[in-house]
Amino acid sequence: MTDWNKSDWRNKPRVQMPDYTDAAALAAVEEKLGSYPPLVFAGEARRLRAELADVSRGDAFLLQGGDCAESFAAFQADPIRDTFKVMLQMAMVLTYGAKVPVVKVGRMAGQFAKPRSAPTEVVDGVELPSYRGDIINDLEFTPESRIPNPEKMLQAYTQAAGTLNLLRAFSTGGYADVHQVHGWTLGFTGAPEAAKYREMAERISDTLDFMQAAGMTSDNNHELQTVDFYTSHEALLLEYEEALTRIDSTSGKWLAGSGHMIWIGDRTRQPDGAHVEFCSGVQNPIGLKCGPTMTTGHLKALMHKLNPENEAGRLTLIARFGAGTVGEHLPRLIKAVEEEGANVVWTCDPMHGNTIKSSSGYKTRPFESVLREVREFFGVHNAEGTVPGGVHFEMTGADVTECTGGVRAVTDEDLGSRYHTACDPRLNASQSLELAFLVAEELSARRAKVQAAKTA
Ligand code: PEP
Ligand code: CO
Repeated sequence: MTDWNKSDWRNKPRVQMPDYTDAAALAAVEEKLGSYPPLVFAGEARRLRAELADVSRGDAFLLQGGDCAESFAAFQADPIRDTFKVMLQMAMVLTYGAKVPVVKVGRMAGQFAKPRSAPTEVVDGVELPSYRGDIINDLEFTPESRIPNPEKMLQAYTQAAGTLNLLRAFSTGGYADVHQVHGWTLGFTGAPEAAKYREMAERISDTLDFMQAAGMTSDNNHELQTVDFYTSHEALLLEYEEALTRIDSTSGKWLAGSGHMIWIGDRTRQPDGAHVEFCSGVQNPIGLKCGPTMTTGHLKALMHKLNPENEAGRLTLIARFGAGTVGEHLPRLIKAVEEEGANVVWTCDPMHGNTIKSSSGYKTRPFESVLREVREFFGVHNAEGTVPGGVHFEMTGADVTECTGGVRAVTDEDLGSRYHTACDPRLNASQSLELAFLVAEELSARRAKVQAAKTA
């Protein structure tokens, strides 16, 4: 990798990236960003890779979640806190089900650039370039708003830095105390409609009481009052990524300083394309979205390119096929991985294959489809004897109405009341936590099966 350079992607075919019209303005922004401090430290990325190596062996579980697209307009402390809070609740429930540590990775502090299914959008007969995320252009439907503006990268950097600072403060400043996190969950399971999850919550309460009685309190146990929380985003806007990429003086290797983990989207994973080229040279853990069109040939080529040394924890395959089609696609890709003897983390994104248009006209995702895809993902891994390593959700801690269903059922008609996403529909706090309980049940059943097989 020594002859790799962070600008090599510029010689490769690129898709889904803006054509900036003002080259001088772009160059000025790149120069400025290039002089700013990176947002993450290489040691953190290495620690995340080691934790993901545990995930690949089934000794930890990955929870990745957050906004589809972070927005400049919604940049406030409360949404950051609320998403962090619900992810901690989910992690605790999942830890209880899986009986292994849960690695927490936010789609936060950098998740600004969006690939789109069409380059333009037509509203009332007017055609304009598509919105590509706040780091590139504006959501407002006017010709000026949709012009890509490089200056927006600077605002994205500032917002990412502010978000990460708050996440770091919450992680270690007492907010993440295990007793407090469980207290919030009891608030959810206390509601009549969530009664079916009360038993598991009560068992967690018992466990915490026992630990307390045995002398393990938050005061004397650092682990109970702090968490490790990592950031991630799609590495789509390569000018931004390159500008924040630096040589890590400890290892002499390149690090994308924009976030701990970065991923390659389903639309930008061409083995000889710019995005794969860029991600191949940085030492961060890399995610790779695998949709229905991923061929086994491409997957093999991508694994060689992105993880030539076959390091555990380096590469996370994010399966996103759609409910009802996992059985058709996942086994063939698992087979390709096994044939190569490749070390990967398998995780399930049950969001991007399950987007539909509701009868009320909103883009939505039915909770049942999301859950069904997760169940199918577990089912295939159980049948293949491979490790279902984690889940990847578009979610928020806020009480939005963007996905239908869940115990506090959101109906098609409800969607208009609090539909706030800048891009895809997210699970709300209640739906996210409910999903965590259901995944915890899957994990717990799987664990029982694995143990029974060991003792048989
Ligand atoms: C996303 O994760 O926001 C996304 C666009 O996913 P995909 O590349 O899988 O469509
Ligand atoms: Co999305």
